Amino acid sequence: MDKVVAARSNFELIMPTTSKSGRAPLDLPLRLDRAVGSQALQVYGGLRSAILDGRLAAGLRLPSTRSLAQQFGVKRNAVVIAYEHLQSDGLADARTGSGTFVATLPAPARKTKQLAAAPPNIRKQAIRPFALGRTYADPQLLRRLAGATRRRIMKADDAAFGYGDPRGDAELRSQIARYLATSRGFICDPACVLIVNGIQHGMRLFVEALLQPGDAVWMEDPGYPVARRTLTRAGLKVVPVPVDAEGLDVRAGEKRAGLAKAAYVTPSHQFPTGVTMSMARRIALVEWARSAKAWLLEDDYDSEFRYGGPPLTALAGIGGGDRVIYLGTFSKLLGAGLRLAYMVLPPAALDQVIAVREGHDRFPPSFMAGAVAELMADGFLADHIRRMRRRYRSSRDAAVAALERAAGHALKIVSPQQGLHLLALLPDGLPADAAAAIRAQAKVETWLLSETRQKANGPDGFILGFGGHDAAELAAAATALGHAARIYVEGLR
Ligand SMILES: Cc1ncc(COP(=O)(O)O)c(C=O)c1O
Repeated sequence: MDKVVAARSNFELIMPTTSKSGRAPLDLPLRLDRAVGSQALQVYGGLRSAILDGRLAAGLRLPSTRSLAQQFGVKRNAVVIAYEHLQSDGLADARTGSGTFVATLPAPARKTKQLAAAPPNIRKQAIRPFALGRTYADPQLLRRLAGATRRRIMKADDAAFGYGDPRGDAELRSQIARYLATSRGFICDPACVLIVNGIQHGMRLFVEALLQPGDAVWMEDPGYPVARRTLTRAGLKVVPVPVDAEGLDVRAGEKRAGLAKAAYVTPSHQFPTGVTMSMARRIALVEWARSAKAWLLEDDYDSEFRYGGPPLTALAGIGGGDRVIYLGTFSKLLGAGLRLAYMVLPPAALDQVIAVREGHDRFPPSFMAGAVAELMADGFLADHIRRMRRRYRSSRDAAVAALERAAGHALKIVSPQQGLHLLALLPDGLPADAAAAIRAQAKVETWLLSETRQKANGPDGFILGFGGHDAAELAAAATALGHAARIYVEGLR
């Protein structure tokens, strides 16, 4: 009967075994055909097919004859003979004093296994100017993060290495509560803070805990497409509610779906228009939520970066706290790659959301969270915000100046007082594909305003991310976009 030797997972049957360190792997994921001739032939046959189909990668050091004989339960001499056969076939090389290695074969000799399914269609990360979601990988920040993470790992005891609180690292939760009180004017109990791996993740936990598929949810229009997708994928009925110069139009929402169960809003800095929701609208929204017993999902994604004036208090801080699920993130402040964000829950929602969290992934990882808490506690994060504000403000100014110079009247630039993106609006009345044509001509990476709308309404334009990009590259891209817009618009006259 066949004996399966260390076939640990399907993964190993597909992925070539490599050994960068030059050490032999502990065991080989091989199956010996025990029905075939001698033990030497069985070992030879198993290794030969693994080399030919790519499971054993070129350059891999094969285990010693003694250890392979032990794994396979065969005589050592059988392995010695098998290795000699492989060498004479050109499939392995013996290097005196260091062992036997899988030989490098000409490409056609190998028949590397293909994954059965077509590769998944994964969107490439946008990186060129004006891609959104980019932040500066500040060397000082990286050094401090590396040091703090290392310290955490070095002093970890059994408890720190084991299962944790479903809400996440206690130190980070209490630092976040402190930060929200001083920067966002909203007092919360660290017990109500939940660490999540992104705002989307927080939204999913909320939806699963507190809504039912088919429930109506207000969504800003234009609005953040990622949030819209998250709500739609959760089986909710997404109701577009227009945004004007005061933010989400609460009366229009009430007319369209007064009994909706929730509303998704970005009141501090509406995405993508950049509008700050007026106090009158905030109060109207909170009143609606109270009377409709609806939840407000407040996405406060970039309030750290204000370039003028103090930020308005978060919705969660203006007396609507019992209906507001507050979502904050470190994606802009530090970097999206950390996958570190948080939600603050009203006490009435806490148990249900925690139960859902435990059903998904039990609890979030704690080492990076603890390191970020350390940076918050010792004031580094506040310094980082100050430094990044200066940096991003000058990137914004460089992009705005270059756009205005190159575009003339073809673009109306809305320079933001907050955040990491700006808006460049085209004149009204252009053909529907004008913005896409200009983007293609300028070869810049930008979302179009129309791509964030559910209902066509008003002029199109460009949502331009300026965080994390080199200022000179930004200015060059801004000039290209401005010129392309000008040529297009003037060409229609
Ligand atoms: C409106 C809005 N919400 C949330 C996020 C991202 O948050 P996270 O990375 O925590 O999912 C972004 C990122 O650009 C955003 O624009």
